[in-house]
Amino acid sequence: AKIKAFQTTLLDWYDRAGRDLPWRHDQEPYHVWVSEIMLQQTQVQTVIPYYERFMDWFPTLKALADAPEERLLKAWEGLGYYSRVRNMQRCARQLINDYDGQWPQTAAELTELIGIGPYTAGAIASIAFGEAVPAVDGNAYRVFSRLLEIDADVAKPQTRTVFERAISRIISRERPGDFNQAIMDLGASYMTARQPDSAHSPVKAFNQAYLDGVEAQYPVKTKK
Ligand code: ADE
Repeated sequence: AKIKAFQTTLLDWYDRAGRDLPWRHDQEPYHVWVSEIMLQQTQVQTVIPYYERFMDWFPTLKALADAPEERLLKAWEGLGYYSRVRNMQRCARQLINDYDGQWPQTAAELTELIGIGPYTAGAIASIAFGEAVPAVDGNAYRVFSRLLEIDADVAKPQTRTVFERAISRIISRERPGDFNQAIMDLGASYMTARQPDSAHSPVKAFNQAYLDGVEAQYPVKTKK
């Protein structure tokens, strides 16, 4: 009952107050993928104009697969980490050559693709295909460690599965993509890294670390 109440509270807030972002206008896997790769090392406000121009220049997987390298690098200028866009083109060609241009629809299969790790696979599978899988990145570590008082050390690679299991029990089976994106918006608004505003958060009643006055302790992270 508590899980259901959390889901409803979170999704109602997302419906009212979720951010209107260009990659949220539809559930095209190509759109979700491009946005998630861009958002890996770059802030939302910076990504928006890059995303729109990228879709202008390369509106489809095929257009991306066929793009000349100089155009590709030009589209990425200013975002940095050029291996990201090079891998995207390799992935586009992989999909066309080995998958008949069709995206696989599960997170497990998506991780077989070039440049797609567990986070991106979870994001695409949940948002584009409605699979009830988590998308675990630094934001999810912060938000769920506080909500659930998870003490696992997020600097350790093995900790990912601790969070994946915990989130899998809570994620909405009806709206997994919206659930994951609502968590992103929560982490960007009330449940921020520094100076969170949990007193006004829509899910404050579910935020165990806040209720116990120990929010500043989460996420637990040892220095390496
Ligand atoms: N950060 C990573 N993925 C995101 C998304 N889909 N929406 C907003 N912020 C994000």
